Amino acid sequence: MTHPFSYQGRRVVVTGAARGVGAELLDVLADLDVAHVTAIDLNPPSGPHDAFLATNLSDEVAVRDALARIDSPVHALFNNAGVADTQTPNTVLAVNYLALRTLSEGLLDRMPEGSAIVNTASLAGNLWRKRVKQINELLDIDLTAGWSESRQWFETNAESLGQGPYNFTKEIVEVYTMRSSRPAMRRGVRTNTVCPGPIDTPLLPEFRQTTSDQIVDWNIREMNGRAVSPREVAATLAFFGSPAAAYINGVNIDIDGGFSAAAATGQLDLSGRS
Ligand SMILES: NC(=O)c1ccc[n+]([C@@H]2O[C@H](COP(=O)([O-])OP(=O)(O)OC[C@H]3O[C@@H](n4cnc5c(N)ncnc54)[C@H](O)[C@@H]3O)[C@@H](O)[C@H]2O)c1
Repeated sequence: MTHPFSYQGRRVVVTGAARGVGAELLDVLADLDVAHVTAIDLNPPSGPHDAFLATNLSDEVAVRDALARIDSPVHALFNNAGVADTQTPNTVLAVNYLALRTLSEGLLDRMPEGSAIVNTASLAGNLWRKRVKQINELLDIDLTAGWSESRQWFETNAESLGQGPYNFTKEIVEVYTMRSSRPAMRRGVRTNTVCPGPIDTPLLPEFRQTTSDQIVDWNIREMNGRAVSPREVAATLAFFGSPAAAYINGVNIDIDGGFSAAAATGQLDLSGRS
């Protein structure tokens, strides 16, 4: 019998595969005997993969072109690529939400029963309850007719959201995970999302720019003293994409050394935050 964590015979797609978490994921999947990996990124990955689709995920035409070039079947889709508020709001919305959803919905028909969609969101999305009405409004916009209506909604509402697009897009992904997981499960496909705290990758300095060293250092300190390693995130992604997680569906899981649990029970030391 195949081991429940094994990717033997499984074909997967990984976005953001060139560096950081995605690069680690390629190594973890190879260790788990993955059959075929399609890597999607702006840049070619150096880790183990079988096909590379050079794709700008902020470009709708490029995303639809990549979709057309992915061979069936797909047993796991890892929507991992993400960009910070160092990029334009339009790019953040597209890479972190529009491309993720377009790939998920575009591949669903090609995913046999027992397959999984696994997204990388962030702790930064955990305050989604504050904006759930707006998020649901945006999620009600169907993407099959294109991204322009969603972009328009975002332009109209951006100012009222009270935060930068990065956090908002991660909130969207958490709510989308819960909303989309039920209909997808009816077709035998699970959807889950990981929500890491600061990860030790080349993206972390960009969050230092868009927030501050003080906030990031405080977050890391309260996360039990160190950032998450990209390997730890990759291993959790691989678990959710594997048959070992066969009945876990619609879950947003924090990878934060207990930060969120401490926050929920009033145990954080807030003195160094501001
Ligand atoms: N690093 C952190 O502190 C942190 C914390 C929480 C969540 N995350 C999330 O983890 C995920 C992985 O981030 P990371 O830290 O590995 O980042 P990273 O910047 O190291 O890697 C991101 C990858 O995505 C690719 N990418 C960026 N823009 C792209 C585009 N337009 N088209 C195609 N590919 C593109 C990059 O080339 C790169 O290979 C992201 O979704 C990010 O939001 C990161």
